[in-house]
Amino acid sequence: MFKDMLGSDQTLFKNEDALDYSFIPKAIPYRESQQQHIATCIKPLFQQRNGKNLVVHGKPGIGKTVATLHLFREIEEETDDVVPVYVNCWQKNTTFKIMVEMCNVLGYKFTQNKNTEELFDIVKNIANKKGIAFAFDEVDKVQDFDFLYMILEEIFKKTIILITNYKTFFDNLDERIRSRLMADILEFKQYNQAEILGILKERVSYAFVPGIFEDGLLDMIAKKTYETGDMRTGLHMIREAGLNAENRSSKKVSMEDIKAAIEKLSNYSANPSDDLEDDIQSILILIKKNPKSKMGDLYKLYQDDGGLSVYRTFVRKVKKLADGKFVILSKTEGGAEGNTTVVEPTGVKKLDEF
Ligand SMILES: Nc1ncnc2c1ncn2[C@@H]1O[C@H](COP(=O)(O)OP(=O)(O)O)[C@@H](O)[C@H]1O
Ligand SMILES: [Mg+2]
Repeated sequence: MFKDMLGSDQTLFKNEDALDYSFIPKAIPYRESQQQHIATCIKPLFQQRNGKNLVVHGKPGIGKTVATLHLFREIEEETDDVVPVYVNCWQKNTTFKIMVEMCNVLGYKFTQNKNTEELFDIVKNIANKKGIAFAFDEVDKVQDFDFLYMILEEIFKKTIILITNYKTFFDNLDERIRSRLMADILEFKQYNQAEILGILKERVSYAFVPGIFEDGLLDMIAKKTYETGDMRTGLHMIREAGLNAENRSSKKVSMEDIKAAIEKLSNYSANPSDDLEDDIQSILILIKKNPKSKMGDLYKLYQDDGGLSVYRTFVRKVKKLADGKFVILSKTEGGAEGNTTVVEPTGVKKLDEF
């Protein structure tokens, strides 16, 4: 079966890993000014002073994570005085898990059977000898913000970088955290099509043997990527197109290979939940502004604000917030209007318990 195909050692890929989403390229084009801003926030740490905090926001797949990690790698290579600590809060979504992860990153392995306080003491000890640049990526996914409070209060030489896809995230943060953070806000804007093409060209040169993508072919992928707004779709299509060519035992990617890759992509949408999530964020703000409101009253306010969901969808979104413990729903029975649900935000309460 394999006789007519390329020999097993004959591949179009020079380094397929370069197409992984976790790959960190040597340079991050078009994000120099953003990296500069992040670097400026960290710079005081190099002079034994306290750094500046930063909230980074922007749509998914536009280089927020890779720009930060690239900079962190540079810090690691250049100095021992400042320690970068990156935590992905999607995976580590509680204060306890974040503490364990921070210890691990800092090289402390004996985390078993230790509680949050004990783990934090270890982080604190290291942190107050050196400066620490913390990055909490996907920070909107965490269930409690105690870790932030602890770092803000007890670690003196630090920069805290909070990375999120939602521009409303910062407005939703507890007031006491917000005022202590005093963070700069840095928005990552979406790439234009030319920038996407530039990034793709560079990746192609890392990932494939030379000359397999002829001039002009990548434009189609860049166009499609621009439509989704997410660089990941571009990287995915490049890989698919390369695999298609390889399967044909061809030494060049053809228009058909690319069309097939695009076709396959349209079978799964890149980030369908994004609008939903944005809407949920604004509903949460509304609930915080109007605590203890009835569901029906909230819906009216939501519509006045320009909310577009029908009532049922709105209720579903509020229930999602309740599932995430952002709000509490309580039912009141009887009364003039029959049964109603009262919605109450939980955020403030959690911190009071701290
Ligand atoms: N300027 C860039 N140069 C090179 N690769 C990039 C650039 N921007 C994004 N990427 C790549 O696109 C993918 C998505 O970027 P990522 O940083 O994970 O997005 P975000 O964190 O904003 O969701 C990653 O594989 C990343 O390496
Ligand atoms: Mg990211």
